[in-house]
Amino acid sequence: MEVVKWNSLVHRFSILTVFVTLCLIGVGGIVTSTESGMTVPDWPNSYGYNMFLFPISLWKGGIFYEHSHRLVASFVGFLTILLATGLQLSKSTDRLTKLLGWVALGLVILQGVLGGLRVTLIEKQIGIFHAILAQSFLVLLGILAYRTSRIPTRIASPAADPQSLRKVGIFFLTFSLLALLQLSFGATMRHQHEGLAVPTFPDAYGQVFPDISPNAIAEINFHREHVEEIDPISGMHIVVHMAHRFLAYFLVIAGTVWTSHALMRRQFLHARIPLILPVGFLFLLWGQVFLGVVTVLRNKPADIATFHVLLGACLLLLCSLLAKHCFYCLSACQKVALTSGQQIPQNQPSLDKNPVTSAA
Ligand code: HEM
Ligand code: HEM
Repeated sequence: MEVVKWNSLVHRFSILTVFVTLCLIGVGGIVTSTESGMTVPDWPNSYGYNMFLFPISLWKGGIFYEHSHRLVASFVGFLTILLATGLQLSKSTDRLTKLLGWVALGLVILQGVLGGLRVTLIEKQIGIFHAILAQSFLVLLGILAYRTSRIPTRIASPAADPQSLRKVGIFFLTFSLLALLQLSFGATMRHQHEGLAVPTFPDAYGQVFPDISPNAIAEINFHREHVEEIDPISGMHIVVHMAHRFLAYFLVIAGTVWTSHALMRRQFLHARIPLILPVGFLFLLWGQVFLGVVTVLRNKPADIATFHVLLGACLLLLCSLLAKHCFYCLSACQKVALTSGQQIPQNQPSLDKNPVTSAA
């Protein structure tokens, strides 16, 4: 069997693409937080100019954020084209990874079109899908970085305990799905562009769950329109905001209790997961709650709200990669269990389907 060398270039390039995409999510977050989305009202041109020739003298205020966002997005699109091509040409990449590279390219094109339609159709709801797709795209890029790393090839002789791997994997998979739901609530709030639906914390209009009867909403809107001079809201806006809060309470309590319990029972050690990762997870989780609370208490400062988006993206990325890693190791363990007892030919390099062997 031909021994193929690990392609470090493609792997490093995929990490670069993940990093630049995280920056892009940050810049996109600034666009939304500063309400700059419509400061450049046309697309794909910018005020009639070719986007790449738009005069620097006009990059002012919100235009600076929106235009920078478009340029960084174009750069990410370019990186994704190179990544998909690199994966296709790389001998050490399996068919699924090559396919995922093209899926990533499809997603980034769709994301660009959604961004453009948000502007040309003046449709703020599109921003919700644009925000969710941005982080899903980031997760896919993370998975590509994982698949092109040396980690999967080193899993061929798993020393990890399958029971612990399964438990940790199920936990992080569930957490990732709930974080995606939490992101959807968050994006729905942000793209209403109508200020905070519930401006107090820890109470909500003096209650655990606010009254959303027509009379109560009319009273809230009277205050918003005549005192704060902001747009009115509906009961649904309040429900989405409260759903985000309650899901956050659940995530932070369940996440902390489960992770502490798993740390005490040494489950991460048994699953061969470096302790820095669950500790980092707890750190991101509590940091995210802190930023969410400050976002409410300080009435959505643009920088804090943007950090909340960015940290949420890091949390989702970390959890989904941990889940991916556990299930990958688990399948390697199962292969070993299936083949143990059977004689493995001398020249068979690994039990992993992937023919890549570590260069080291
Ligand atoms: C690689 C592609 C892209 C990615 C990953 C991306 C990502 C993002 C993110 C994360 C946000 C902030 C969402 C939030 O904070 O809730 C955003 C906002 C925005 N993006 Fe993009 N974007 C991309 C391409 C584009 C393109 C090509 C346009 C073209 C016009 C665009 C226009 C916008 C606009 C107008 C907003 C603000 C939406 C609002 O405030 O309602 N994006 N983007
Ligand atoms: C597990 C904890 C949490 C996670 C994972 C999380 C995640 C997110 C994400 C990803 C967004 C932005 C969505 C987007 O447009 O891209 C968001 C928005 C938001 N979150 Fe959280 N969040 C958490 C906890 C909290 C808490 C505890 C609060 C407040 C009590 C909060 C308040 C908000 C608010 C007000 C927004 C909208 C900000 C705006 O309109 O600019 N979050 N959240």
